[in-house]
Amino acid sequence: MKLVTIYGSPTPPGKLARALGLLEAGVRDRRPGWEVERVAPDTSLGPVAAAWRQDAVTKVGEADAVVIASPVFRGSITGTLKLLIDMLPVEALRSKPVAILTVAAAPHHYLSAERHLRDVLSWFGALTAPNSAFFVDRAFAADEVAADVLDELHELGEAAVVLAERLAGLSFGPAPLTVRYGAKASG
Ligand SMILES: Cc1cc2nc3c(=O)[nH]c(=O)nc-3n(C[C@H](O)[C@H](O)[C@H](O)COP(=O)(O)O)c2cc1C
Repeated sequence: MKLVTIYGSPTPPGKLARALGLLEAGVRDRRPGWEVERVAPDTSLGPVAAAWRQDAVTKVGEADAVVIASPVFRGSITGTLKLLIDMLPVEALRSKPVAILTVAAAPHHYLSAERHLRDVLSWFGALTAPNSAFFVDRAFAADEVAADVLDELHELGEAAVVLAERLAGLSFGPAPLTVRYGAKASG
């Protein structure tokens, strides 16, 4: 089975890249039956203009489970990540396990990106993992990452993997609004 991780930052490398790398390593170590692949934006145009190649859309659509990772920017997800989300068809995430990983500078912004992502994931009818992982960026500043941080990252990877293994092939109704209202809905 395949886990695709979405690196939603326009400014690699950084704390989010480190957090996501630790999550990916945990899934590779613990789940030999799983392939893990990261999709990341093309930053060759400069960080603000980061965009996505079409193969990122294909890879997310073919994944059995997805981890979406975003830093908190301006109290929300990055514009870069939203660009990819806007390229995805509803089938890419419908009834698919999706786990959320976010990083911010300020602890009181812990729900900022997550709550926006949960709204967007409902548009797709995604099977969003019940708990997300949030870290203050300084958790990844030192050479050593604390054991409880590592544990949470591994738990988040496990959530996506276990949901996919247990619920493979199932789909859940009612259909997302965009499917139910078809041509009347935009997108
Ligand atoms: C444009 C921009 C906006 C940001 N907005 C917020 C914010 O609203 N709240 C917050 O806690 N941190 C904010 N941050 C800090 C980042 O979330 C934090 O530094 C994070 O670690 C960046 O990810 P990176 O280290 O992978 O680059 C912002 C950073 C940037 C560059």
